[in-house]
Amino acid sequence: MRIDLDNVKALRELDSAGMLEAAWNLPEQCAQAWSLAQDPPLPQIADWRHLLVTGLGGSAIGGDLLRVFAADKLGIPVLVNRDYTLPWFVNRETLVFAVSYSGNTEETLSAYGAARERGTTVVAITTGGELGRRAADDGVPVVRIPTGIQPRAATGYLFIPMLGILERLGLLFGMEAEVTGVSAHLRELRGRYGPETPARDNPAKQLAANLQHRLPVIWGATGTTEVVAQRWKGQFNENAKAPAYWNVFPELNHNEVVGFEQPEDLLGRIWLIVLRDEQDHPRVRLRMKVTREMVKKAAGWTEVDSSGPTGLARVYSLIYLGDYASMYLAALAGIDPGPVQVIDFLKNELAKHE
Ligand code: PA5
Repeated sequence: MRIDLDNVKALRELDSAGMLEAAWNLPEQCAQAWSLAQDPPLPQIADWRHLLVTGLGGSAIGGDLLRVFAADKLGIPVLVNRDYTLPWFVNRETLVFAVSYSGNTEETLSAYGAARERGTTVVAITTGGELGRRAADDGVPVVRIPTGIQPRAATGYLFIPMLGILERLGLLFGMEAEVTGVSAHLRELRGRYGPETPARDNPAKQLAANLQHRLPVIWGATGTTEVVAQRWKGQFNENAKAPAYWNVFPELNHNEVVGFEQPEDLLGRIWLIVLRDEQDHPRVRLRMKVTREMVKKAAGWTEVDSSGPTGLARVYSLIYLGDYASMYLAALAGIDPGPVQVIDFLKNELAKHE
């Protein structure tokens, strides 16, 4: 049953997994995630040549956030691995974050085993599960994060500990101020995006209403909003149980933009959301403008600007808007944003075949 987005009681009743509450608590989650990273004893090594984050879905996107955030701060490259196996170069000189909210994701467990065999330094981030058990047995440092929410609602727990660990290892600096800045900005934003704020003043509710019965296609920009575009896509999929797609400027100008001639009925249902940031390359900004003129007759177009005092706060400002908009889009279709039965089914089916 379709929910009126200003009916807060109905929104909460539909939300069996407490997704709205988890989103509201994201600023506090970020602060707590920083503290949790201060606990585990760490190895005293400092000559890593690469950093690899291995995980899937909601547990992998923190790796992408780190890859983009650290690109101009970390002296070593960051690679995100969403697979059972590891790239050939991974060796004793690789620092590996094995990230799994449940601790039971088979691809991550397999990659963890491979990382151990290759003699890498591993740090696990998990609520427990099999990964927690194996890491404890292996003497691997574990950042233990709280259980009880969906992995995609744990984006603070699954990303921010990496900043804390990297600072403790002497690889990043000034991260506590970064995290404090994110929390403070999200506290301001939740007053605008949260369920109590009526649709007339709430950009997240307005965006959801705009996307109803449409196919969201989210376009970010490499190096600034690329991970947010990917995150929005995943949130529309998992929260609203709806298809969504993403791409980035400038790459999309070299292929995707050509595909706006037909079929007209399908194109008419597409709504492009362009994510913008003050650090976007000036030529990318120009590309956005020119592209708009090229596609505006075929598909809808909305531009969304990041906000906030730092690069990381700006990224989280957009993540937060997408999180709320995807939950409201679910509500507009009468869909519970929390459970992801399709993923659970797949994991159960796979578990039957060792
Ligand atoms: O959002 C989800 O539930 C998924 O994308 C999971 O994060 C993914 O299946 C991996 O599971 P986990 O995060 O427990 O390792």
